[in-house]
Amino acid sequence: MVTADNRDEILAALGYGDLKVTGRLVDASNATLFGEISVGDKLFNCIYKPVTGERPLWDFPDGTLANREYAAYLVSEAMQLNCVPPTLLREGPFGFGMVQLWIDIDEEEDLSELFRKDLIGLRNLALFDIVINNTDRKIGHLLPTSDGHIYGCDHGVTFHSEDKLRTVLWQWEQSPLLDTELNTLKLLKTELEGKTGDEIQELITADEFAALKVRISHLLNKKVFPSPSPDWPAVPWPPF
Ligand SMILES: Nc1ncnc2c1ncn2[C@@H]1O[C@H](COP(=O)(O)OP(=O)(O)O)[C@@H](O)[C@H]1O
Ligand SMILES: [Mg+2]
Repeated sequence: MVTADNRDEILAALGYGDLKVTGRLVDASNATLFGEISVGDKLFNCIYKPVTGERPLWDFPDGTLANREYAAYLVSEAMQLNCVPPTLLREGPFGFGMVQLWIDIDEEEDLSELFRKDLIGLRNLALFDIVINNTDRKIGHLLPTSDGHIYGCDHGVTFHSEDKLRTVLWQWEQSPLLDTELNTLKLLKTELEGKTGDEIQELITADEFAALKVRISHLLNKKVFPSPSPDWPAVPWPPF
């Protein structure tokens, strides 16, 4: 589990450790590589997505997915949700890209059952996805650990300025936001006025940054989880 105590050590290792590619995830749509990062005698497994391996998409500008993955991590941190594994941008054997700590998931967990449950870890991810406008929250992007925490991965197609929320997590549709969730959103709003906001503005366009702030204000005003849009396929296909 990543905690406030070990997070900086992990981030330092991801950023400055020696990165070796050891495999490729065959079912991945982009060049999603499996890697090892070593620092002294410590070894961390990671995901490495070089920008050069990004498949062009019709609705997102080329070469921007790694930046979006990192911006999503910054939002998760600013909301203090810890729902994205430590992520950063760096050079690697195939050039600049994003690197993310590999999370060993609880193999006992049946993801096809898990995703429908009313768990706070999933609910946090659902709120996070609304904020980042995630257009690809598939069941296979849920990473439950044996200590009960749930991380999410694959945040490349996020932060579009148009509403593109597409997710398997609709179980809180029209549920009132909890006070803790409203506080989380207020915290994020404040963070976006400061250093985190400056960092995110380097990663996404001005329109996308403005839309991010609008989505947060909208949630704070409405105080409920939204319903699926009738104008847009609201569940990813395939859902896994
Ligand atoms: N940080 C991570 N820890 C553990 N598993 C991961 C991590 N990132 C990705 N995965 C696994 O690898 C699969 C492919 O990665 P993903 O980010 O979805 O790649 P793509 O962008 O090509 O779809 C995911 O569905 C998930 O099972
Ligand atoms: Mg994926």
